[in-house]
Amino acid sequence: MSRLPHLSSRLQGFGTTIFAEMTALAIKTGALNLGQGFPDSDGPTEVSEAAIEAIRSGVNQYPPGPGMPDLRLAIAEHQQRFYDLTVDPDTEVLVTAGATEALAAALLALCETGDEVIVFDPTYDSYKAGISLAGAVMRGVVLQPPTADEVAAGSSAWTFDPDELRRAFNPKTRLILLNTPHNPTGKVFTTEELALVAELCVEHDVIAVTDEVYEHLVFDGAHQLLATFDGMADRTVTVSSGGKTFSFTGWKIGWAMGPAPLIAAIRTAKQFLTFVNGAPFQPAIAVGLRLGDDYYDGFRNELLAKRDLLCNELADIGFATFSPEGTYFATVDVRSMGHEDGIEFCLSLPETAGVVAVPSAVFYADQRDGLPFVRFCFAKNDQMLTDATARLREAFA
Ligand SMILES: Cc1ncc(COP(=O)(O)O)c(C=O)c1O
Repeated sequence: MSRLPHLSSRLQGFGTTIFAEMTALAIKTGALNLGQGFPDSDGPTEVSEAAIEAIRSGVNQYPPGPGMPDLRLAIAEHQQRFYDLTVDPDTEVLVTAGATEALAAALLALCETGDEVIVFDPTYDSYKAGISLAGAVMRGVVLQPPTADEVAAGSSAWTFDPDELRRAFNPKTRLILLNTPHNPTGKVFTTEELALVAELCVEHDVIAVTDEVYEHLVFDGAHQLLATFDGMADRTVTVSSGGKTFSFTGWKIGWAMGPAPLIAAIRTAKQFLTFVNGAPFQPAIAVGLRLGDDYYDGFRNELLAKRDLLCNELADIGFATFSPEGTYFATVDVRSMGHEDGIEFCLSLPETAGVVAVPSAVFYADQRDGLPFVRFCFAKNDQMLTDATARLREAFA
């Protein structure tokens, strides 16, 4: 009866990830885990209390397919408040099981087999699998780290070659998947870069799907939405999630926003993936979205201080460190410590230093493009960051 291989061709190469291996190593060695991309403390009490209250008051059955009306309204209010963007909560917002489902449903709904999807490489790990599940083909534009001189001059901006992006657009291109602020590099796309993406999307009639889950973790300046650039309003799907902003990543309440026809298409795919999820968490995330500016400012400032704590220590120990412009991830180049291979470095790090980090190579289409880079997550309590850097100092300084 058994037909091998069991895994369909669309999922070949997407077996167990290095994250499982690293977590197992962390547990076995008692290492401090700066690998995982989630905070080690809960978000605001008002938000968790709202979820508890919702469960107690019986908000426990299937919510409406597009998401609870009040959450969709809160999402629309959030877009108006932060970006001056008017969104119709009834037709232009879809609540999803995290940003991950919104991205997968968008790819499944909008791509034909063989269509090309442009991404900036490296990518968050679900992109490649989502594109493959949709039968589409990923076309990467590699992000280059800043040079040593640029880092010395205080810049941590990763960049891409505009001509490489221009060449990536072709008649097969269906959409571009853009993540800003960007995991794993921490890059925040500039106005000029977004304008170029917009210009190319309009010229080639391409849809943009933007992943903005770190929208409230831009450390310098304001977050910019591709949807607000000329010609993009009717061709951009903006994806975000409550997981990162409110530190409730396990609740998996995300959303997609965009023109009604695109949202209707994505809703069609979404309804056969999860249909709905997280009934009592939906009103709670609505409470979060309506928190005052003090919450949003406090959240960003807290992570900014953690970024500086970690990055200053790493640089002081001797790591070539790329302090991020956004997100809660910092990258180092292990060549500065005499290592060539970030995968080997991370596999030995729990033993040598009692710390877990993630090799950035796993986020690249071709691992060789990111081999010397290693990602640390700093959404951890200060004591843990201090202990982890003390251990690294002992092992490497
Ligand atoms: C860039 C990016 N997109 C999406 C996600 C997943 O978001 P969610 O948990 O809302 O599915 C993550 C989580 O790490 C991420 O880093």
